[in-house]
Amino acid sequence: MLDLILRNCSLADGRRGLDIGILDGRIAALEPSLAARAHEEVDAAGQLVTPPFVDAHFHMDATLSYGLPRVNRSGTLLEGIALWGELKPRLTQETLVARAMTYCDWAVAQGLLAIRSHVDVCDPRLLAVEALLHVKAQVQPYLDLQLVAFPQDGVLRCPGSLEHLTRALDLGVEVVGGIPHFERTQAEGAESVRILCELAAERGLPVDMHCDESDDPFSRHIETLAYHAQRLGLQGRVAASHLTSMHSMDNNYVSKLLPLIAEAGVAAIANPLINITLQGRHDGYPRRRGMTRVPELLAAGVSVAFGHDCVMDPWYALGSGDMLEVAAMGLHVAQMTSQAGMAACFAAVTETPARILGLEGYGLAPGCRADLVLLQARDPVEAIRLRATRRLVLRAGRVVASAPPAASRLHIPGRPECVNFQWEMREDVE
Ligand code: FE2
Repeated sequence: MLDLILRNCSLADGRRGLDIGILDGRIAALEPSLAARAHEEVDAAGQLVTPPFVDAHFHMDATLSYGLPRVNRSGTLLEGIALWGELKPRLTQETLVARAMTYCDWAVAQGLLAIRSHVDVCDPRLLAVEALLHVKAQVQPYLDLQLVAFPQDGVLRCPGSLEHLTRALDLGVEVVGGIPHFERTQAEGAESVRILCELAAERGLPVDMHCDESDDPFSRHIETLAYHAQRLGLQGRVAASHLTSMHSMDNNYVSKLLPLIAEAGVAAIANPLINITLQGRHDGYPRRRGMTRVPELLAAGVSVAFGHDCVMDPWYALGSGDMLEVAAMGLHVAQMTSQAGMAACFAAVTETPARILGLEGYGLAPGCRADLVLLQARDPVEAIRLRATRRLVLRAGRVVASAPPAASRLHIPGRPECVNFQWEMREDVE
């Protein structure tokens, strides 16, 4: 006797009409017309069931602080960092925890059940670190929160930061961060990459650095990061976030760089909503989009995830924890409009970041954790197009969020009473 069966599910890989049996928080069976019985059954009615959304790049210490103490007038990364610096001394543990917990509620409601959040360690009190470690423990029953020790003001530029970062790791923060493009010089940026990669290698930890987040075509810390990942045997454990300078780099140089990144096993994390709004601010027209070269990285064999990065904070006034909005923006900015390209954008907010975060038991196969989302969409492309309603969100086989189907009532004589926006696609579209 199973705990739950989801009947007639469609999967992201195109399989249809499958039943998913769940027992003790894990997927026990995945097959058509499952003969077993269960305490509870849900008819998915041919709609898409997917493992949960995963956000590979976020800042939970800053989220929901928009307007405190003022808004970012220039819209630039640097004014955002300055603004965050103004806010930092005024932060309290209570407000940090309250805002983060609210955001986690939003995330779960959107089927976002795993988040890698950077946490600023350039504060001798480590207030945000302690707050987010507390939040991580609180939300663990329904959301995986992975923390990155992030020296926002530069590990070399801000005195004491390396020590604070190391203390944060001692407290249980599990990934080493960095921000080489914000160090005083290119040379110090490169040195910071060396120091932080060696620290990660010593401690057996992954690395996730903000890397080359500028429009400067000569910002080349990704090359240094790939070099040290290779040198220290960190392949598969290093992620480079943003890489916006790559948008502006010389094509000849990029043709050498892409295979180096792939060879070093470094993953890339683009943040489409934030890259498209923060970058290009010093341009006239044509104005650069700023997002890194996603299709080219994928073609070179590099894992590419999309992160949300910011929601209502000093860098970004919008957002709601909806990774389908992130995927949609990434798709548009990278012009990934083919069927394969759109599927890759869905993967960039689900299975690819799950792999980068090293999530245990993620996926849709017997033995995987029964963390699942039932969407009001037939396939990933429709999910992105509609920012589909999350009908059910399951964590370890238990419903943690639900929503009624989205539909609009029409008040037009002679027209059907109700419309939703799903459309029968031809099956053979490529
Ligand atoms: Fe970031």
